[in-house]
Amino acid sequence: MSFLSWSARLWQQVRGVNPFEGDCLPSRVPLFGFGRPTLPIPHLWNYKEPIKIFETFYWGAEKETGAGKHNRYLYVAGLPPILLSRDPAIIKAVLSATGDKPGQFDRDTSPTAGIARATGVDSLLYANGPVWRRQKKLSAEPFSRSNLFQPEKFHGFEQTFRKTVSERLDALRTRQQASGEKSIRIELEAEIKVVMIEMLVNNFFGGNVSYEELRDRYVPALVLLIDHMVSDTVAPISQALHRMITGRNAILKQKQADFEALTDIALSGRAEGLGLWKHFKSDATNDALRSNIRVFLAGAMEATTSFASWAISHLSHRPDIQDQIYAEVKEMNVYDPDNLAQAATLNRVLEETLRLTPALYFLPRRATVDTWIETADHRKMFIPNGTHLRLDVWHANRCEEFWGEAVTGYPAETFAPERWEFLAKKGITSKDMLHFGFGHGPRFCPGRFLGLLEVGLVVGAVVKIFKFTAVGKETKARAGVSTKPADGVLVDLELRT
Ligand code: HEM
Repeated sequence: MSFLSWSARLWQQVRGVNPFEGDCLPSRVPLFGFGRPTLPIPHLWNYKEPIKIFETFYWGAEKETGAGKHNRYLYVAGLPPILLSRDPAIIKAVLSATGDKPGQFDRDTSPTAGIARATGVDSLLYANGPVWRRQKKLSAEPFSRSNLFQPEKFHGFEQTFRKTVSERLDALRTRQQASGEKSIRIELEAEIKVVMIEMLVNNFFGGNVSYEELRDRYVPALVLLIDHMVSDTVAPISQALHRMITGRNAILKQKQADFEALTDIALSGRAEGLGLWKHFKSDATNDALRSNIRVFLAGAMEATTSFASWAISHLSHRPDIQDQIYAEVKEMNVYDPDNLAQAATLNRVLEETLRLTPALYFLPRRATVDTWIETADHRKMFIPNGTHLRLDVWHANRCEEFWGEAVTGYPAETFAPERWEFLAKKGITSKDMLHFGFGHGPRFCPGRFLGLLEVGLVVGAVVKIFKFTAVGKETKARAGVSTKPADGVLVDLELRT
Protein backbone atom coordinates (compact mmCIF):
# COMPACT_ATOMS: atom_id res chain seq x y z
CA MET A 1 0.00 0.00 0.00
CA SER A 2 1.60 3.35 -0.99
CA PHE A 3 0.76 6.80 0.39
CA LEU A 4 -3.07 7.04 0.37
CA SER A 5 -5.01 10.10 -0.72
CA TRP A 6 -7.18 11.95 1.78
CA SER A 7 -10.35 10.46 0.31
CA ALA A 8 -8.97 6.90 0.24
CA ARG A 9 -8.07 7.20 3.90
CA LEU A 10 -11.47 8.64 4.73
CA TRP A 11 -13.10 5.69 2.95
CA GLN A 12 -11.01 3.25 5.03
CA GLN A 13 -11.96 5.13 8.20
CA VAL A 14 -15.67 5.02 7.42
CA ARG A 15 -15.49 1.28 6.73
CA GLY A 16 -13.44 0.67 9.87
CA VAL A 17 -10.49 -0.84 7.96
CA ASN A 18 -7.39 -1.37 10.09
CA PRO A 19 -4.54 0.17 8.03
CA PHE A 20 -1.94 -1.85 9.97
CA GLU A 21 -1.16 -5.50 9.25
CA GLY A 22 0.80 -8.41 10.69
CA ASP A 23 0.64 -10.57 13.80
CA CYS A 24 1.13 -7.54 16.01
CA LEU A 25 -2.02 -5.62 15.21
CA PRO A 26 -2.86 -2.35 17.00
CA SER A 27 -6.45 -1.67 18.05
CA ARG A 28 -8.48 1.41 17.17
CA VAL A 29 -9.28 4.32 19.51
CA PRO A 30 -12.52 6.21 18.85
CA LEU A 31 -12.31 10.01 18.69
CA PHE A 32 -15.18 10.40 21.17
CA GLY A 33 -16.08 8.23 24.14
CA PHE A 34 -17.76 8.45 27.55
CA GLY A 35 -15.82 8.58 30.82
CA ARG A 36 -12.39 9.11 29.27
CA PRO A 37 -9.85 11.54 30.80
CA THR A 38 -9.92 13.84 27.71
CA LEU A 39 -9.94 13.77 23.88
CA PRO A 40 -7.13 11.67 22.33
CA ILE A 41 -5.80 14.76 20.49
CA PRO A 42 -4.20 17.92 21.91
CA HIS A 43 -6.30 21.09 21.85
CA LEU A 44 -6.32 24.45 23.62
CA TRP A 45 -7.83 23.08 26.85
CA ASN A 46 -5.87 19.84 27.29
CA TYR A 47 -2.44 20.47 25.74
CA LYS A 48 -0.89 21.11 29.16
CA GLU A 49 -1.78 17.54 30.15
CA PRO A 50 -0.19 15.36 27.45
CA ILE A 51 0.11 12.34 29.75
CA LYS A 52 -3.68 12.44 30.18
CA ILE A 53 -4.06 12.50 26.39
CA PHE A 54 -1.97 9.32 26.17
CA GLU A 55 -4.01 7.71 28.95
CA THR A 56 -7.11 8.32 26.84
CA PHE A 57 -5.60 6.15 24.12
CA TYR A 58 -5.48 3.19 26.53
CA TRP A 59 -9.03 3.66 27.77
CA GLY A 60 -10.66 0.22 27.58
CA ALA A 61 -7.47 -1.38 26.23
CA GLU A 62 -7.39 -3.87 29.11
CA LYS A 63 -10.20 -5.74 27.29
CA GLU A 64 -7.89 -6.39 24.35
CA THR A 65 -6.23 -9.77 24.34
CA GLY A 66 -3.50 -9.35 21.72
CA ALA A 67 -1.07 -6.64 20.67
CA GLY A 68 -3.95 -4.13 20.71
CA LYS A 69 -3.56 -3.82 24.48
CA HIS A 70 -0.33 -1.85 24.20
CA ASN A 71 -0.54 -0.60 20.60
CA ARG A 72 -3.42 1.76 19.84
CA TYR A 73 -4.25 3.93 16.85
CA LEU A 74 -6.42 6.89 16.06
CA TYR A 75 -7.59 7.17 12.45
CA VAL A 76 -9.92 10.09 11.67
CA ALA A 77 -10.81 12.94 9.29
CA GLY A 78 -8.94 11.51 6.29
CA LEU A 79 -5.62 12.08 8.11
CA PRO A 80 -2.84 9.48 8.41
CA PRO A 81 -3.07 7.20 11.47
CA ILE A 82 -1.54 8.13 14.81
CA LEU A 83 -0.05 5.03 16.45
CA LEU A 84 0.65 5.08 20.17
CA SER A 85 2.79 2.24 21.57
CA ARG A 86 3.76 1.32 25.11
CA ASP A 87 5.17 -2.01 23.97
CA PRO A 88 8.97 -1.92 24.63
CA ALA A 89 9.68 -4.40 21.82
CA ILE A 90 7.85 -2.23 19.27
CA ILE A 91 9.49 0.95 20.65
CA LYS A 92 12.91 -0.66 20.29
CA ALA A 93 12.20 -1.93 16.75
CA VAL A 94 11.05 1.52 15.56
CA LEU A 95 13.94 3.39 17.21
CA SER A 96 16.44 0.97 15.67
CA ALA A 97 14.89 1.58 12.23
CA THR A 98 15.08 5.40 12.49
CA GLY A 99 17.64 7.28 10.43
CA ASP A 100 18.60 8.70 7.05
CA LYS A 101 18.68 5.44 5.06
CA PRO A 102 15.91 4.91 2.48
CA GLY A 103 12.74 3.62 4.12
CA GLN A 104 13.80 4.41 7.70
CA PHE A 105 11.61 6.35 10.10
CA ASP A 106 12.10 10.11 10.51
CA ARG A 107 11.78 11.92 13.79
CA ASP A 108 8.25 13.34 13.45
CA THR A 109 8.55 17.10 13.24
CA SER A 110 4.90 17.90 14.05
CA PRO A 111 5.27 17.80 17.88
CA THR A 112 8.38 20.00 17.64
CA ALA A 113 7.20 22.65 15.16
CA GLY A 114 7.29 25.33 17.89
CA ILE A 115 10.81 24.28 18.92
CA ALA A 116 11.96 24.60 15.30
CA ARG A 117 10.45 28.10 14.98
CA ALA A 118 12.32 29.17 18.12
CA THR A 119 15.66 27.43 17.51
CA GLY A 120 15.98 26.84 13.74
CA VAL A 121 15.05 24.00 11.39
CA ASP A 122 18.55 22.63 10.75
CA SER A 123 19.42 21.52 14.30
CA LEU A 124 20.39 17.99 15.27
CA LEU A 125 17.14 17.65 17.17
CA TYR A 126 14.75 18.81 14.45
CA ALA A 127 16.44 17.89 11.15
CA ASN A 128 16.00 14.61 9.30
CA GLY A 129 17.96 13.04 6.40
CA PRO A 130 21.35 14.38 5.28
CA VAL A 131 21.13 17.58 7.40
CA TRP A 132 20.67 15.47 10.54
CA ARG A 133 23.57 13.17 9.55
CA ARG A 134 25.90 16.19 9.08
CA GLN A 135 24.93 17.70 12.44
CA LYS A 136 25.41 14.35 14.17
CA LYS A 137 28.96 14.04 12.83
CA LEU A 138 29.79 17.58 13.99
CA SER A 139 28.69 17.04 17.58
CA ALA A 140 30.11 13.53 18.01
CA GLU A 141 33.58 14.51 19.28
CA PRO A 142 32.93 17.11 22.03
CA PHE A 143 30.18 14.95 23.58
CA SER A 144 31.89 11.59 23.28
CA ARG A 145 32.51 9.35 26.26
CA SER A 146 36.18 9.15 25.37
CA ASN A 147 36.37 12.93 25.40
CA LEU A 148 34.43 13.66 28.56
CA PHE A 149 35.51 10.65 30.57
CA GLN A 150 39.23 10.44 29.80
CA PRO A 151 40.99 11.01 33.14
CA GLU A 152 43.33 13.81 32.08
CA LYS A 153 40.62 15.70 30.15
CA PHE A 154 38.00 14.89 32.71
CA HIS A 155 39.78 16.34 35.70
CA GLY A 156 39.96 19.95 34.54
CA PHE A 157 36.39 19.83 33.37
CA GLU A 158 35.07 18.12 36.48
CA GLN A 159 36.81 20.64 38.72
CA THR A 160 35.12 23.61 37.07
CA PHE A 161 31.80 21.78 37.28
CA ARG A 162 32.31 20.95 40.94
CA LYS A 163 33.32 24.53 41.76
CA THR A 164 30.05 25.75 40.23
CA VAL A 165 27.97 23.27 42.18
CA SER A 166 29.79 23.88 45.49
CA GLU A 167 29.40 27.66 45.20
CA ARG A 168 25.66 27.34 44.69
CA LEU A 169 25.27 24.86 47.52
CA ASP A 170 27.39 27.01 49.84
CA ALA A 171 24.98 29.87 49.17
CA LEU A 172 22.08 27.58 50.10
CA ARG A 173 23.94 26.39 53.18
CA THR A 174 24.54 30.00 54.31
CA ARG A 175 20.88 30.82 53.75
CA GLN A 176 19.84 27.81 55.78
CA GLN A 177 22.22 28.68 58.64
CA ALA A 178 21.14 32.34 58.65
CA SER A 179 17.49 31.33 59.00
CA GLY A 180 18.26 30.03 62.51
CA GLU A 181 15.71 27.26 61.90
CA LYS A 182 16.49 23.57 61.83
CA SER A 183 15.19 23.38 58.25
CA ILE A 184 14.04 25.69 55.47
CA ARG A 185 11.24 25.01 53.00
CA ILE A 186 12.33 25.55 49.43
CA GLU A 187 11.43 24.72 45.81
CA LEU A 188 14.70 23.25 44.59
CA GLU A 189 13.84 23.13 40.88
CA ALA A 190 14.46 26.86 40.52
CA GLU A 191 17.98 26.44 41.99
CA ILE A 192 18.73 23.35 39.91
CA LYS A 193 17.83 25.14 36.68
CA VAL A 194 20.39 27.89 37.23
CA VAL A 195 23.15 25.44 38.19
CA MET A 196 22.47 23.41 35.05
CA ILE A 197 22.62 26.38 32.69
CA GLU A 198 25.68 27.73 34.51
CA MET A 199 27.53 24.44 33.99
CA LEU A 200 26.59 24.43 30.33
CA VAL A 201 27.35 28.08 29.52
CA ASN A 202 30.43 28.63 31.68
CA ASN A 203 32.01 25.17 31.90
CA PHE A 204 31.02 23.47 28.68
CA PHE A 205 31.07 26.49 26.35
CA GLY A 206 33.76 28.40 28.30
CA GLY A 207 31.54 31.48 28.89
CA ASN A 208 31.85 33.87 31.80
CA VAL A 209 28.33 34.89 32.87
CA SER A 210 27.57 35.74 36.50
CA TYR A 211 25.19 33.57 38.49
CA GLU A 212 22.91 36.57 39.05
CA GLU A 213 22.65 37.37 35.35
CA LEU A 214 21.87 33.74 34.54
CA ARG A 215 19.23 33.59 37.27
CA ASP A 216 17.59 36.95 36.59
CA ARG A 217 17.91 37.32 32.84
CA TYR A 218 18.73 34.16 30.92
CA VAL A 219 16.87 31.46 32.85
CA PRO A 220 13.54 33.42 32.83
CA ALA A 221 14.03 34.02 29.08
CA LEU A 222 14.57 30.31 28.45
CA VAL A 223 11.64 29.29 30.66
CA LEU A 224 9.24 31.64 28.84
CA LEU A 225 10.51 30.57 25.43
CA ILE A 226 10.22 26.84 26.25
CA ASP A 227 6.65 27.44 27.42
CA HIS A 228 6.00 29.37 24.22
CA MET A 229 7.45 26.49 22.11
CA VAL A 230 4.77 24.13 23.47
CA SER A 231 1.79 26.45 22.94
CA ASP A 232 3.18 27.55 19.56
CA THR A 233 3.19 23.88 18.47
CA VAL A 234 -0.38 23.14 19.54
CA ALA A 235 -2.16 26.34 18.56
CA PRO A 236 0.14 28.72 16.66
CA ILE A 237 -2.61 30.94 15.22
CA SER A 238 -4.70 31.44 18.35
CA GLN A 239 -1.53 31.94 20.42
CA ALA A 240 -0.29 34.61 17.99
CA LEU A 241 -3.68 36.37 18.20
CA HIS A 242 -3.66 36.13 21.99
CA ARG A 243 -0.19 37.71 22.16
CA MET A 244 -1.22 40.50 19.82
CA ILE A 245 -4.33 41.34 21.87
CA THR A 246 -2.56 41.17 25.25
CA GLY A 247 0.58 42.98 24.08
CA ARG A 248 2.77 39.99 24.98
CA ASN A 249 4.60 40.15 21.65
CA ALA A 250 7.00 42.74 23.05
CA ILE A 251 7.86 40.46 26.00
CA LEU A 252 8.42 37.50 23.67
CA LYS A 253 10.71 39.62 21.43
CA GLN A 254 12.76 40.69 24.45
CA LYS A 255 13.17 37.09 25.63
CA GLN A 256 14.16 36.01 22.11
CA ALA A 257 16.81 38.75 22.09
CA ASP A 258 18.11 37.48 25.46
CA PHE A 259 18.28 33.95 24.05
CA GLU A 260 20.29 35.23 21.06
CA ALA A 261 22.65 37.06 23.44
CA LEU A 262 23.20 33.81 25.39
CA THR A 263 23.83 31.96 22.11
CA ASP A 264 26.47 34.61 21.23
CA ILE A 265 28.14 34.06 24.60
CA ALA A 266 28.21 30.27 24.05
CA LEU A 267 29.74 30.78 20.59
CA SER A 268 32.24 33.42 21.67
CA GLY A 269 34.58 30.85 23.29
CA ARG A 270 35.03 29.03 19.99
CA ALA A 271 37.79 31.24 18.53
CA GLU A 272 39.95 30.82 21.66
CA GLY A 273 39.13 27.12 22.11
CA LEU A 274 37.60 27.67 25.57
CA GLY A 275 35.67 24.97 27.46
CA LEU A 276 35.01 21.97 25.25
CA TRP A 277 35.29 24.04 22.07
CA LYS A 278 38.89 22.85 21.86
CA HIS A 279 37.59 19.41 20.90
CA PHE A 280 35.31 20.73 18.20
CA LYS A 281 36.83 20.22 14.76
CA SER A 282 34.90 21.83 11.94
CA ASP A 283 35.17 24.70 9.50
CA ALA A 284 31.42 25.43 9.72
CA THR A 285 30.73 29.14 10.32
CA ASN A 286 29.31 30.29 13.65
CA ASP A 287 26.06 31.13 11.85
CA ALA A 288 25.77 27.53 10.65
CA LEU A 289 26.08 26.34 14.27
CA ARG A 290 23.54 28.71 15.84
CA SER A 291 20.48 26.48 15.72
CA ASN A 292 22.37 23.61 17.34
CA ILE A 293 23.72 25.86 20.09
CA ARG A 294 20.18 27.08 20.78
CA VAL A 295 18.96 23.47 21.00
CA PHE A 296 21.84 22.52 23.33
CA LEU A 297 21.14 25.50 25.59
CA ALA A 298 17.36 25.16 25.84
CA GLY A 299 17.15 21.37 25.43
CA ALA A 300 20.01 20.50 27.74
CA MET A 301 18.79 22.84 30.47
CA GLU A 302 15.32 21.35 30.20
CA ALA A 303 16.44 17.68 30.16
CA THR A 304 19.12 17.90 32.86
CA THR A 305 16.83 19.97 35.12
CA SER A 306 14.09 17.38 34.70
CA PHE A 307 16.49 14.51 35.45
CA ALA A 308 18.12 16.08 38.53
CA SER A 309 14.78 17.43 39.84
CA TRP A 310 13.17 14.01 39.63
CA ALA A 311 16.16 12.27 41.26
CA ILE A 312 16.10 14.70 44.20
CA SER A 313 12.32 14.55 44.40
CA HIS A 314 12.33 10.72 44.56
CA LEU A 315 15.08 10.79 47.18
CA SER A 316 13.10 13.29 49.25
CA HIS A 317 10.62 10.44 49.86
CA ARG A 318 13.40 7.93 50.70
CA PRO A 319 15.71 9.08 53.56
CA ASP A 320 17.13 5.55 53.76
CA ILE A 321 18.55 5.81 50.24
CA GLN A 322 19.85 9.33 50.91
CA ASP A 323 21.88 7.81 53.75
CA GLN A 324 23.24 5.07 51.50
CA ILE A 325 24.36 7.63 48.92
CA TYR A 326 25.84 9.78 51.68
CA ALA A 327 27.98 6.81 52.77
CA GLU A 328 29.23 6.52 49.18
CA VAL A 329 30.04 10.17 48.56
CA LYS A 330 31.05 11.56 51.95
CA GLU A 331 34.74 10.76 51.40
CA MET A 332 34.60 11.31 47.66
CA ASN A 333 36.53 14.43 46.78
CA VAL A 334 37.18 13.63 43.17
CA TYR A 335 34.25 12.69 40.97
CA ASP A 336 36.29 10.82 38.38
CA PRO A 337 34.83 8.07 36.18
CA ASP A 338 36.14 5.33 38.50
CA ASN A 339 34.74 6.92 41.66
CA LEU A 340 31.42 7.62 39.98
CA ALA A 341 31.21 4.03 38.76
CA GLN A 342 31.72 2.82 42.33
CA ALA A 343 28.88 4.89 43.74
CA ALA A 344 26.52 1.98 43.12
CA THR A 345 23.44 3.37 44.91
CA LEU A 346 23.78 6.76 43.21
CA ASN A 347 23.98 5.05 39.83
CA ARG A 348 20.95 2.89 40.57
CA VAL A 349 19.00 5.98 41.66
CA LEU A 350 19.84 7.70 38.36
CA GLU A 351 18.83 4.63 36.35
CA GLU A 352 15.57 4.23 38.25
CA THR A 353 14.78 7.94 37.96
CA LEU A 354 15.03 7.81 34.17
CA ARG A 355 12.94 4.64 34.09
CA LEU A 356 10.05 5.83 36.24
CA THR A 357 10.07 9.49 35.29
CA PRO A 358 11.84 9.91 31.93
CA ALA A 359 12.57 13.53 31.00
CA LEU A 360 11.38 12.88 27.44
CA TYR A 361 8.18 10.98 28.01
CA PHE A 362 7.49 10.08 24.38
CA LEU A 363 9.58 9.82 21.23
CA PRO A 364 7.88 10.95 18.01
CA ARG A 365 8.52 9.20 14.69
CA ARG A 366 6.95 9.24 11.21
CA ALA A 367 6.86 6.47 8.61
CA THR A 368 8.37 7.77 5.35
CA VAL A 369 7.28 4.69 3.32
CA ASP A 370 5.12 1.63 3.93
CA THR A 371 7.23 -0.25 6.46
CA TRP A 372 7.34 -3.70 8.05
CA ILE A 373 9.02 -3.82 11.44
CA GLU A 374 10.01 -6.95 13.33
CA THR A 375 10.55 -7.20 17.08
CA ALA A 376 13.35 -9.21 18.71
CA ASP A 377 10.74 -11.90 19.56
CA HIS A 378 9.78 -12.06 15.85
CA ARG A 379 6.43 -10.29 15.92
CA LYS A 380 5.74 -8.25 12.80
CA MET A 381 3.79 -5.06 12.21
CA PHE A 382 3.05 -3.30 8.91
CA ILE A 383 3.02 0.48 9.37
CA PRO A 384 1.55 2.54 6.49
CA ASN A 385 3.41 5.46 4.93
CA GLY A 386 2.70 8.76 6.71
CA THR A 387 1.78 7.19 10.10
CA HIS A 388 2.65 9.41 13.06
CA LEU A 389 4.15 7.26 15.82
CA ARG A 390 4.17 8.25 19.46
CA LEU A 391 6.51 5.89 21.31
CA ASP A 392 5.08 6.21 24.79
CA VAL A 393 8.06 5.58 27.02
CA TRP A 394 6.28 6.97 30.11
CA HIS A 395 3.56 4.32 30.11
CA ALA A 396 5.78 1.48 28.80
CA ASN A 397 8.03 1.93 31.84
CA ARG A 398 5.03 1.89 34.21
CA CYS A 399 3.46 -1.26 32.81
CA GLU A 400 3.30 -4.07 35.36
CA GLU A 401 3.61 -6.60 32.56
CA PHE A 402 7.07 -5.31 31.54
CA TRP A 403 8.46 -3.80 34.75
CA GLY A 404 6.36 -5.25 37.58
CA GLU A 405 7.15 -7.51 40.54
CA ALA A 406 7.21 -10.72 38.51
CA VAL A 407 9.93 -9.33 36.23
CA THR A 408 11.95 -6.90 38.38
CA GLY A 409 11.01 -7.77 41.97
CA TYR A 410 9.18 -4.46 42.60
CA PRO A 411 5.90 -2.87 41.40
CA ALA A 412 6.35 -0.96 38.14
CA GLU A 413 4.89 2.33 39.43
CA THR A 414 7.13 2.42 42.53
CA PHE A 415 10.45 4.24 42.74
CA ALA A 416 12.70 1.32 43.69
CA PRO A 417 16.40 1.63 42.84
CA GLU A 418 16.71 -1.79 44.49
CA ARG A 419 15.11 -3.36 41.39
CA TRP A 420 18.41 -2.87 39.53
CA GLU A 421 20.20 -4.91 42.19
CA PHE A 422 17.52 -7.60 41.93
CA LEU A 423 17.99 -7.66 38.13
CA ALA A 424 21.80 -7.64 38.39
CA LYS A 425 21.65 -10.74 40.60
CA LYS A 426 19.81 -12.45 37.73
CA GLY A 427 22.53 -11.28 35.33
CA ILE A 428 20.23 -8.67 33.73
CA THR A 429 21.64 -5.19 33.03
CA SER A 430 20.06 -1.94 31.88
CA LYS A 431 21.20 -2.85 28.35
CA ASP A 432 18.88 -5.89 28.50
CA MET A 433 16.01 -3.95 30.11
CA LEU A 434 15.70 -0.84 27.95
CA HIS A 435 13.87 2.12 29.52
CA PHE A 436 14.77 4.52 26.68
CA GLY A 437 15.70 7.35 29.09
CA PHE A 438 18.29 8.54 26.56
CA GLY A 439 16.50 7.05 23.55
CA HIS A 440 17.87 4.18 21.50
CA GLY A 441 19.36 3.57 18.05
CA PRO A 442 20.82 6.14 15.66
CA ARG A 443 19.04 9.12 17.27
CA PHE A 444 20.30 8.27 20.74
CA CYS A 445 21.05 11.31 22.93
CA PRO A 446 24.50 12.75 22.16
CA GLY A 447 24.50 14.59 25.54
CA ARG A 448 24.17 11.40 27.61
CA PHE A 449 27.63 11.43 29.17
CA LEU A 450 27.57 15.16 29.81
CA GLY A 451 24.07 14.89 31.30
CA LEU A 452 24.99 11.95 33.53
CA LEU A 453 28.08 13.78 34.72
CA GLU A 454 26.13 16.94 35.54
CA VAL A 455 23.23 15.20 37.23
CA GLY A 456 25.50 12.77 39.16
CA LEU A 457 27.54 15.70 40.46
CA VAL A 458 24.52 17.76 41.49
CA VAL A 459 22.65 14.90 43.19
CA GLY A 460 25.81 13.62 44.92
CA ALA A 461 26.73 17.11 46.13
CA VAL A 462 23.21 17.88 47.45
CA VAL A 463 23.12 14.59 49.42
CA LYS A 464 26.60 15.29 50.82
CA ILE A 465 25.47 18.56 52.43
CA PHE A 466 21.73 18.24 53.13
CA LYS A 467 19.00 15.92 54.29
CA PHE A 468 15.79 16.75 52.48
CA THR A 469 12.21 15.66 53.01
CA ALA A 470 9.29 15.97 50.59
CA VAL A 471 6.56 18.32 51.81
CA GLY A 472 3.76 16.43 50.03
CA LYS A 473 3.04 12.75 50.57
CA GLU A 474 3.05 12.04 46.87
CA THR A 475 4.63 13.98 44.00
CA LYS A 476 2.63 14.28 40.79
CA ALA A 477 4.11 14.95 37.34
CA ARG A 478 3.63 17.88 34.99
CA ALA A 479 4.69 17.59 31.36
CA GLY A 480 5.55 20.04 28.60
CA VAL A 481 8.69 19.65 26.51
CA SER A 482 9.89 17.38 29.35
CA THR A 483 8.38 16.05 32.59
CA LYS A 484 9.02 17.63 35.99
CA PRO A 485 7.79 17.14 39.56
CA ALA A 486 4.56 19.19 39.75
CA ASP A 487 5.53 20.75 43.12
CA GLY A 488 8.82 22.23 41.82
CA VAL A 489 10.70 19.84 44.19
CA LEU A 490 9.25 21.38 47.34
CA VAL A 491 11.31 20.06 50.25
CA ASP A 492 12.33 20.79 53.83
CA LEU A 493 16.08 21.19 53.68
CA GLU A 494 18.25 20.47 56.68
CA LEU A 495 22.05 20.65 57.03
CA ARG A 496 23.64 17.23 57.61
CA THR A 497 26.05 18.33 60.27
C1 HEM B 1 20.73 14.36 31.18
C2 HEM B 1 19.59 14.58 30.69
C3 HEM B 1 19.17 14.22 29.29
C4 HEM B 1 18.18 13.36 28.93
C5 HEM B 1 17.33 12.55 29.89
C6 HEM B 1 18.11 13.35 27.50
C7 HEM B 1 17.25 12.57 26.76
C8 HEM B 1 17.26 12.47 25.38
C9 HEM B 1 16.48 11.52 24.62
C10 HEM B 1 15.49 10.51 25.19
C11 HEM B 1 16.76 11.72 23.30
C12 HEM B 1 16.21 10.91 22.12
C13 HEM B 1 15.06 11.65 21.47
C14 HEM B 1 14.43 10.82 20.36
O1 HEM B 1 14.82 9.69 20.12
O2 HEM B 1 13.48 11.34 19.71
C15 HEM B 1 17.69 12.81 23.22
C16 HEM B 1 18.19 13.34 22.06
C17 HEM B 1 18.99 14.45 22.01
N1 HEM B 1 19.61 15.06 23.09
FE1 HEM B 1 19.43 14.56 25.03
N2 HEM B 1 19.04 14.23 27.00
C18 HEM B 1 19.73 14.77 28.06
C19 HEM B 1 20.77 15.67 28.00
C20 HEM B 1 21.22 16.27 26.85
C21 HEM B 1 22.28 17.23 26.79
C22 HEM B 1 23.11 17.69 27.98
C23 HEM B 1 22.37 17.60 25.47
C24 HEM B 1 23.30 18.57 24.82
C25 HEM B 1 24.06 19.45 25.40
C26 HEM B 1 21.38 16.87 24.72
C27 HEM B 1 21.14 16.99 23.36
C28 HEM B 1 20.34 16.14 22.62
C29 HEM B 1 20.17 16.23 21.16
C30 HEM B 1 20.77 17.27 20.26
C31 HEM B 1 19.34 15.16 20.79
C32 HEM B 1 18.88 14.80 19.37
C33 HEM B 1 19.81 13.75 18.79
C34 HEM B 1 19.41 13.24 17.41
O3 HEM B 1 18.27 13.39 17.02
O4 HEM B 1 20.28 12.67 16.73
N3 HEM B 1 20.71 16.05 25.58
N4 HEM B 1 18.00 13.24 24.50
